Amino acid sequence: MFLTLTVNDGSEEAVRDLLTGMSGFTRSVAFREPDEHLLCVVGIGSHLWDRLFPNLPKPRGLHPFEEIKGDKHTAVSTPGDLLIHLRSGRLDMCFELARLLGKKFEGHAEIIDEVHGFKFFDERDLLGFVDGTENPEGDKAEDAVTIGEEDAAYAGGSYVIVQKYLHDMAGWDALSVEEQEDAIGRSKLDDVEMDDDAKPANAHIKLNVIHDADGKQLQIMRDNMPFGSVGEREFGTYFIGYAKDPSVTEHMLRNMFIGDPPGTYDRILDFSTPQTGALYFVPSVDFLDDPTP
Ligand code: HEM
Repeated sequence: MFLTLTVNDGSEEAVRDLLTGMSGFTRSVAFREPDEHLLCVVGIGSHLWDRLFPNLPKPRGLHPFEEIKGDKHTAVSTPGDLLIHLRSGRLDMCFELARLLGKKFEGHAEIIDEVHGFKFFDERDLLGFVDGTENPEGDKAEDAVTIGEEDAAYAGGSYVIVQKYLHDMAGWDALSVEEQEDAIGRSKLDDVEMDDDAKPANAHIKLNVIHDADGKQLQIMRDNMPFGSVGEREFGTYFIGYAKDPSVTEHMLRNMFIGDPPGTYDRILDFSTPQTGALYFVPSVDFLDDPTP
């Protein structure tokens, strides 16, 4: 589950206090079903950081998410003071913790967006493709997402960028499977990457495999979830990308929306429109429990 909150004016002290209780609230629910691995990640937006912690240095990568406007598609920037990412093998675990948090934050913050994601067959998104295959694993994953000595005061923390995408399923379903595979850059049924010389310049993975000046691949950790409502004909992907340096994710987004080279924007955007976009600093549990230096 993904909850986006805005904090009421005057509630800064109460919210600062509530944040120190997040680990405890999570334990209250998680302990009841330890095998379900309930996790709660809290992200703090740039404006809220300035209100909550005016006397602390700002995490180096924290800033409001900037809109990215391509020729055809736009990565919008939308409000959000807090992001709460709840994760478990069972939705009732997430729901129970969300309910508890809803009660605790009542009167201090408004939940302006709530998305209940679900697992869709073998880790597929609603476009029908396996999503998450090339995520880094183990040490590589930890290195991709964990702030280190480059910002020692916040070591152990991370950054997260989220976007709630809605899909034009009729348009997507009208494509042939081969056209869909060209859009992603992988085969649909068995999830195999296309050969480099066969991969179109506007394929999703072509634009999202990026390198630093030394040729090292720059990676993020994605935890995208499908969501939707049949009655409202809403079919979406909640994109969530963790990184120790949010400029990596921003680079990927520029490639997707503007193109690399410019004009070669990501083909999946012709069928996927972001309704939201925001960036948050994710403090370590130690900081959250006790933010005083
Ligand atoms: C790969 C779907 C948005 C970054 C993939 C793959 C799929 C996919 C199916 C291939 C399998 C895999 O390795 O996971 C989607 C959908 C999105 C979306 C449905 C939203 C509508 C984004 C955004 C970013 C991103 C916004 C970055 C800002 C990546 C990266 C890879 C990837 C880095 C792996 C590339 C590689 O190493 O091969 N995505 N994605 N995706 N996506 Fe996305």
